[in-house]
Amino acid sequence: MCGIVGYVGFRPAADLIIRGLRRLEYRGYDSAGLAVLNGGGLSVTKASGKLSSLEKKLGATLPQGTVGLGHTRWATHGAPTTTNAHPHTDQTGRIAVIHNGIIENAGAIRTALEQRGHTFESETDTEVLAHLIGELYQGDLELAVAAALREVDGAYGIAVISADEPDCLVAARKGSPLIVGVGDGEWFVASDASALLEHTRSVVYLDDGEMVVLTRDGYRVRSLDVMEISKKIDRIEWDLATIERGGFEHFMLKEIFEQPTSLSNTLSGHLLEDEGTARLEGLNLTNDELKQIDRIIITACGTSWHAALIGEYMIEELARVPVEVEYASEFRYRNPVVDQRTLVIGISQSGETADTLAALVEAKNRGARTIGLVNVVGSTIAREVDGGTYLHAGPEVGVASTKAFTSQLAALALFTLRLARLKSLSILQGRQFVEALQALPGQIEEILGRVDEIESLAERFLDTSNALYLGRGVNFPVALEGALKLKEISYIHAEGYPAAEMKHGPIALIDENMPVVFIAPRDAVHSKIVSNIEEVKARGGKVVALVNDGDHEIERLADATFTIPETLDLLTPILTTIPLQLVAYYVAVRRGCDVDQPRNLAKSVTVE
Ligand code: AGP
Repeated sequence: MCGIVGYVGFRPAADLIIRGLRRLEYRGYDSAGLAVLNGGGLSVTKASGKLSSLEKKLGATLPQGTVGLGHTRWATHGAPTTTNAHPHTDQTGRIAVIHNGIIENAGAIRTALEQRGHTFESETDTEVLAHLIGELYQGDLELAVAAALREVDGAYGIAVISADEPDCLVAARKGSPLIVGVGDGEWFVASDASALLEHTRSVVYLDDGEMVVLTRDGYRVRSLDVMEISKKIDRIEWDLATIERGGFEHFMLKEIFEQPTSLSNTLSGHLLEDEGTARLEGLNLTNDELKQIDRIIITACGTSWHAALIGEYMIEELARVPVEVEYASEFRYRNPVVDQRTLVIGISQSGETADTLAALVEAKNRGARTIGLVNVVGSTIAREVDGGTYLHAGPEVGVASTKAFTSQLAALALFTLRLARLKSLSILQGRQFVEALQALPGQIEEILGRVDEIESLAERFLDTSNALYLGRGVNFPVALEGALKLKEISYIHAEGYPAAEMKHGPIALIDENMPVVFIAPRDAVHSKIVSNIEEVKARGGKVVALVNDGDHEIERLADATFTIPETLDLLTPILTTIPLQLVAYYVAVRRGCDVDQPRNLAKSVTVE
């Protein structure tokens, strides 16, 4: 999604802004630009493509000035062209605006402004906002921005500067994250913390409906009706090294190899071995409130939705509470039956996915209790829900989600254990579950130690244009996730299916060119999977199978196998997903794809 960086201080703004935008590249973008106040004027430079195109356009001499803002754009309204790139200026060319989000009534405002003589260069809603601010400007930028934002509908994170107020930057948020960086005699705004870390760890998280004015003397936070708001200063614990690649070729590979640690961090402090349960104070739900829940809805998008499907198996199997899994983008617009005994769980790595946020707001408005399983601390979803738990997986920079996924599964396992032990799960069963969870980081380490075997498995996918992933039970969602990983970073079409469903259509695809991946641990449905493998082999298909050690029956049938350590059936997805992440990674690298920033994708989809 779009990246925002703004600066007011004593250092040259342009260089700081570019460095900040580079830290935000992982969010995915297709154009970039910056504006600097240079003593009486406004210098604006924009370029389509990557930041390198902008730097080329800027040339060796960067625009001078110590107040400025910059933006990386992920196109929503209008193609990724230079004209559509941000910043956009008002009709006088003296006010510059950058924006993340969607102004839903931009069309109507544009028409009204055109009727009053405004002309527009771009197709964007942001230029409309710039012109509206320009029209409302009467010598006070903060008042003009507040007045304009009171007229717009939709989501925004914006930053604004004016040539007529050379020591000031105004920023505001509604539905799109903005953070204030508090430096020593200098102040920043950014769409996320990674752009600030090299300058300051002291930050203020803006909430929806809040504005901030940065001046050379400091900052002040206000509401849109310009009432003063006091905000606490938080401290960012992540250091830059944590975000940097750490020696790996790609963020994605680093994050795959971080999973023994990230999973440990997710579990840390939550497992109560003696009682055979989990401690999750952040849920803000008492035992009685948890016991009164008679229905659970889990809502998410993408990989997080796959985690939700696995959560359904866990919770229904052990806690015996009915669970429905909903695509957030669907849930938010249908007319769901939700009441105060419904618990709605939102799963989100970024905590900023617009559809998931909206689904949770809708559920809350209908009286449901809402909890979030979120990775990014202080994110909008984390602050919207009634309670929840952070994944503590650390920053996930690669667009393809890996460690966040396994941490989501671990968090779901903790929640399941907490709830199940209030119901029918015995203390001995609980202790067994705790023990199995505690063994997982070491088992992931064991899998990662055989990465060379997985890299050679990837060879089987290089010259194919299709792949089929099949699993049963709790490993059916792993088939979906394995297919998503392959297609989103290597651009090979891949589908995940329940293995038995293959006979109802996909079996027509089977031929000697298409790899068929079976996730086949020795679980309750193992014998059924063996039959499905035989059906594929009978039609000349090529089978790659994930199996437990010593599974000679499948080893005899499959063209290639990779062994997975044994664990409880419900926890096998945390292990079976690892080799599938690595297969996708190596195939994408061998195909020369942009692994960390796959085409058309963004790390956090903060628009509909
Ligand atoms: C997964 O690899 C993708 N990056 C995408 O499907 C992602 O899981 C989805 O956009 C949800 O993001 P969230 O977890 O941040 O809400």
